[in-house]
Amino acid sequence: MIPKLLTRRRFLRRLFHSLIGITLLPLAACVPPVKKLLPHPLLASMTSRGEAAAPVRFLRQLVTKDPAVSRYIAWQSDMDTPMDVELIEAGHVKGSLHPAGRRTLSDGGETNRLYEVLLTDLERDASYRYRIRSGVNAWSDWHEIRPVAHTSSASALSGAPPSDLSASAGSAVLSAVEGDTAHTGAFTALIFPDSQCDGDYTVVHDITSLARKNHPEASLAIFMGDQVDNGESPSHWRGWNEAVSPLIADLPAAVLMGNHETYALRWQMRVPHAHLAYFPLPANGTSLEGYFSSFDCGCCHFILLNTQQEELEATGLVPSLTETQLAWLEDDIAQSTAPWNIVLMHKDIVEYDYPDVHDTETGDISPTGRLFMPHFDRLRIDLVFTAHQHSYRRLGHLKDFARDETGPYYIDTGNCGNCYYDVPFNDRLEIARLPQPERGNYLTLEAARERLTIRCYLADGSPADACDLYKNG
Ligand SMILES: [Fe+2]
Ligand SMILES: [Fe+2]
Repeated sequence: MIPKLLTRRRFLRRLFHSLIGITLLPLAACVPPVKKLLPHPLLASMTSRGEAAAPVRFLRQLVTKDPAVSRYIAWQSDMDTPMDVELIEAGHVKGSLHPAGRRTLSDGGETNRLYEVLLTDLERDASYRYRIRSGVNAWSDWHEIRPVAHTSSASALSGAPPSDLSASAGSAVLSAVEGDTAHTGAFTALIFPDSQCDGDYTVVHDITSLARKNHPEASLAIFMGDQVDNGESPSHWRGWNEAVSPLIADLPAAVLMGNHETYALRWQMRVPHAHLAYFPLPANGTSLEGYFSSFDCGCCHFILLNTQQEELEATGLVPSLTETQLAWLEDDIAQSTAPWNIVLMHKDIVEYDYPDVHDTETGDISPTGRLFMPHFDRLRIDLVFTAHQHSYRRLGHLKDFARDETGPYYIDTGNCGNCYYDVPFNDRLEIARLPQPERGNYLTLEAARERLTIRCYLADGSPADACDLYKNG
């Protein structure tokens, strides 16, 4: 399997450089169908008492600008019918109903009905439960909305909605919570690297389920892009959503865009309609909503960058991606008051396939690295998580494209799907790797004001690597 995938990847990349805008991979014109669909507990649990039940699929929570006070709830259904989110705060009997907005996504030859609700004015430190209601007597299972860490600085934020969704209507009959607990901003996040699969996403279900079981304290899930192998394939999105929904129905997720989200069924570049529709990001205030964004969680300010310059900008699909994004980044960092500024971006900063052998000092830095790293140096970014290589590589502190303890800390997060590449080692930049050959991993980020601890676990849950970053020493 590895030689086949390696050939495909390099073939695609070579073609891309020479045939931008033209069909890239005619030999791989068809995306393999999902081999096995996982049973979805929420779908199975819908009950009907005299009315037709409206199936709820792929229930998910997404981060907002300030997930401590707001949460974006989305799902899909085969039926076109009014639905609500019923929300009840822990310890209370009465709740509130929040009518869902409805829209459709026609993509990849299928039409999906998307439902969405923005929950605002959540009480910090409060726990809630919620379920999806259709009609009078049809309900989904209950799920939880956990409190997300915050700091006093984060309290100035208002919980801005995702870019394409205004605040949901509905009566708010929540009872007030007494007081606001002093908070350190500490929290744990789960980080999942590339999850693209050959069509069977069982491995993604297994690794996300294991992470949830082993780290029940986690309050945030981060997905590093390339969720699916082909961004236009409905069967791949079904596979990924069925695999991950059991996790992110209960945890807010930040979902990055990868290059595979921009691939059409015939492997041409395209606007990633499905990704943009499924995972709206907090508004960034630019003309390119949905492509990059940021949010606060406890002591961390997370910056989600878009690294699809080759796929979206060079092809003319999103002409001003770099210019708009970099201008926004300056502004965003200037407004951040969090102790830690953490970048999440899909493509890595090392050029593994085609290093410039004539440049012995920086010839192994990728175009993505050359574009962004000088800005990270100048803006004093603390930590940069990347993906894309499907191989875990811890790079450490880098500045001016070289090892420097004053520079941002870089980690390529690895792989939690079933596509593996033969990635060579880079002894100049890498300080830790996983045992070869790799067969899946995930990470945790334990964040506190004074220290970040990043741990890497293998697909069986065994610890494989760890590092600490300290503030002020
Ligand atoms: Fe990937
Ligand atoms: Fe990628």
